[in-house]
Amino acid sequence: MAESGEVVIVFDTTLRDGEQAARVNLNTGEKVQVARQLERLKVDVIEAGFPASSPGDFDAVRVVAAEVRSPVIAGLARTKERDIITAGEALRDAARARIHTFIATSPIHMEYKLKMTGSEVLKEVESAVRLARGITSDVEFSAEDASRSDINFLVDVFTLAIESGASTINIPDTVGYAMPLEFGEFCGTIINRVNKPGVVWSVHCHNDLGLGVANSLSAVRAGARQVECTINGLGERAGNASMEEIVMSLRTRTDHFGADTRIDTTKFYSTSKLVSNLTGVLVQPNKAVVGINAFAHEAGIHQHGMLCNRATYEIMTPESVGAPGTDLHLGKHSGRHAFNEKVENLGYNLTKEQSERAFEYFKVLCDKKKEVSDGDIEAFITDRVIDAIPEKNYELKDFAVTVASGGKPTASITLVHLGREITEASIGNGPVDAAYRAIRKILSFEPELLEFHIRATSELADAVGEAHVILRYKDVRAQGRGASTDIIEATIRAYVEAVNRLYHTAAAREVKI
Ligand code: KIV
Ligand code: ZN
Repeated sequence: MAESGEVVIVFDTTLRDGEQAARVNLNTGEKVQVARQLERLKVDVIEAGFPASSPGDFDAVRVVAAEVRSPVIAGLARTKERDIITAGEALRDAARARIHTFIATSPIHMEYKLKMTGSEVLKEVESAVRLARGITSDVEFSAEDASRSDINFLVDVFTLAIESGASTINIPDTVGYAMPLEFGEFCGTIINRVNKPGVVWSVHCHNDLGLGVANSLSAVRAGARQVECTINGLGERAGNASMEEIVMSLRTRTDHFGADTRIDTTKFYSTSKLVSNLTGVLVQPNKAVVGINAFAHEAGIHQHGMLCNRATYEIMTPESVGAPGTDLHLGKHSGRHAFNEKVENLGYNLTKEQSERAFEYFKVLCDKKKEVSDGDIEAFITDRVIDAIPEKNYELKDFAVTVASGGKPTASITLVHLGREITEASIGNGPVDAAYRAIRKILSFEPELLEFHIRATSELADAVGEAHVILRYKDVRAQGRGASTDIIEATIRAYVEAVNRLYHTAAAREVKI
């Protein structure tokens, strides 16, 4: 059990392990938005990406490192020399840089994936950590699939990593296999046997059996002082341990853990929404801490209890996690100051130029709608302000879609490509299908539509429609979002945006379109 008043370091990997999740892909501008909000949340370490994995990841880590100054910025690297040097280059402008290097240690990973023996793995650990330590004084080492590794081997691996210069040692439950009591004991035994004062012990738990948070907390009880986690539990397969759940457990039950974090929990709700809006991954309504129903009391008995004393059914307050009371709508009389404050409260950290653009859109929207809700603002900021990628291969010029009862919907779309207007028309099974067929006739390639959804940004009839599309071409995926008071326009904008991003990502990965 931790001594009272100890601090648990929060290491956020939303931009690395979270973004690695199938279907999610953020561009550099979006990653910077998330990183700035994580800084406001007072996260200690932000893992901004895996620089050697792609030029896009390299660029994102470089920009986050240059722009986000308070937290430590970490870059992931395999034990390969090129990975470590590349991570060091991406982190060059960081105020505080960490290289996080890892190699698998479980028998199954060593035999089938790495095709290496234990002694070869040990050699890699030593050379990688020494190389990283020559670049930065802050080096973390992770033993991938630690929870399925032989504990005696792990003790040797970790001892060597520390002796080679690592100051943080991470014990991942990579495949979410561990059970909470067992994992706590496992971590406690390793910490005692390695017995190196001054080292920070960390855990990184995946959620395949829904135990990522429980395993992380059990490790904290056993002496871990860093938790690796993501916003909304985003991550590979069933995700990573959710930051908001770990942090609120520690905060609500400090009596039990004797440890807490430095997180400003009042920023959780806006951070969760920001990440959900940017990734297109929705938060389930009953998600602990940040789900829209997390503080809703429906049953009569509960409501009665709440009216007598909120503590009867509430172990933490909605205010403590920044869950909104009423959504105060803005309108055409709202000034720049009120608008900027609202944008900041929603979790966006815009540059001056982005703020100007956002305010212009806001004014346009005020001419179309009496009241502009939080959801409307979030939708147009993500679509029109921070989404903007520098070069657009295609721009929407015009569209006309007709739907008549009894007839097939038709769409005519005009896009501008390399300064030239191209118009195509199509019929379809519905208006969106007709529009997407017409766009595909314009394109020189045929992307596959992997995902499409549309939602209203509020419950009002004049709500902004927000569309989210994921396209795939060869093995490149890209998402696009579109927002408009006209839902057909929103769906077309989302498709065109995804096409532009597809070009961008394909070019970065040297895939020919
Ligand atoms: O799940 C895992 O083991 C990882 C490591 C790279 C830390 O993500
Ligand atoms: Zn992981």
